[in-house]
Amino acid sequence: MLTGKHIIVGITGGIAAYKTATLVRLLVKAGAEVQVIMTPNAREFITPVTLSTLSGKPVISEFFTANTGQWNSHVDLGLWADAMVVAPATASTIAKMANGVADNMLVTTYLSAKAPVFVAPAMDLDMMRHPTTVRNIALLRSYGNHIIEPAEGELASHLVGKGRMEEPENICKVLDEFFSRRADLAGKRVLITAGPTRERIDPVRYISNFSSGKMGFALAEECASSGAQVTLVAGPVALATRHPAITRIDVESAQQMHDATMSQFPQADITILCAAVADYRVDCVAERKIKREHTDEPTLKLVKNPDIARATGQAKRNGQLTVGFALETDNEQANALEKLQRKNLDMIVLNSLRDKQAGFQVDTNRVTIITADGQRTEYPLKPKRDVAADIVNAIMQLMKQKS
Ligand code: CTP
Repeated sequence: MLTGKHIIVGITGGIAAYKTATLVRLLVKAGAEVQVIMTPNAREFITPVTLSTLSGKPVISEFFTANTGQWNSHVDLGLWADAMVVAPATASTIAKMANGVADNMLVTTYLSAKAPVFVAPAMDLDMMRHPTTVRNIALLRSYGNHIIEPAEGELASHLVGKGRMEEPENICKVLDEFFSRRADLAGKRVLITAGPTRERIDPVRYISNFSSGKMGFALAEECASSGAQVTLVAGPVALATRHPAITRIDVESAQQMHDATMSQFPQADITILCAAVADYRVDCVAERKIKREHTDEPTLKLVKNPDIARATGQAKRNGQLTVGFALETDNEQANALEKLQRKNLDMIVLNSLRDKQAGFQVDTNRVTIITADGQRTEYPLKPKRDVAADIVNAIMQLMKQKS
């Protein structure tokens, strides 16, 4: 899958830089075209001559090539790349990438890159555990980057723990699998609902829930990376979409989400209902702010919102697939199964609110996937982007079974 792929390998100043020579060799052997970019500190750990010999291209380190006055365009490089991998990624480079610092050729190219970016951190145990590094890695992940987790083992400092750059063979495998998966949803249209909805009470107040939209947005990125054309119907969230194959429709209320989803549904091959839709709305939204002195015990009359998942389940034709979510606090399995049937879903993704690191606002999730024919698969706790990959894989398997 790597044949002909344009891959930027970014090397930063860590001892694991010596291993990146093997990575470059493996990528070239697999048929990729590799452009190495080194930070000035990386050159202290391994010579550019080694990397230019292995990649067959001069290594880029500076904005300008000395003597010739030639400018190395980070914009052109960003457009050229099918993928960028930063290995090793030091704590400093990760911090720069997370915060948009563009003070060397590598991080500037990262900011320009439209292609998927893979980051393989490598640093000492305590740096890896530092809250700043933990936050910066979470930030990079939330921007849609792929983190290739460091392995556990003895570090250059002789401390033992997490911080060793993943082996070049495994990094190469991650890239290869990524490109194999990319084509799997080619030609498919995926419709996704995400985030919470807001139900107005008056011009300044609303009813909503804790959904951040992270799971739905991760699914949108994952489906787009797998070759699908994605329409993302998003409630009010503080998240950005990066992939050019994602068309985003922003809505506020459940009714608006229902209308936008149903207008797109006839064209969708796969619909993933990930939004935390408010089940009720206020019957009569006050035109003016409700004043405190008017009543001591105000009562809001609520009426039912449309069930979007159920509506898609009813409108579904042969060949269309619908996937729902169930976030439960008790009787998880039974409730999820009941929802799957009531909403005529092909698959339901269950997560429990009893699980502290799963559910609203957090970056991780632990899910169980249940299909309409009764198959149940439990997955371990993972970052939401990896959970999204598991869900997309399960959808692809189901599509294959049905075709
Ligand atoms: N859902 C939807 N429209 C609604 C309510 C839910 O599309 N008005 C979808 C959710 O996106 C999710 C699934 O239905 O995929 C289950 O959502 P959930 O809130 O758990 O189900 P409800 O039917 O609302 O059941 P309850 O709130 O009673 O648990």
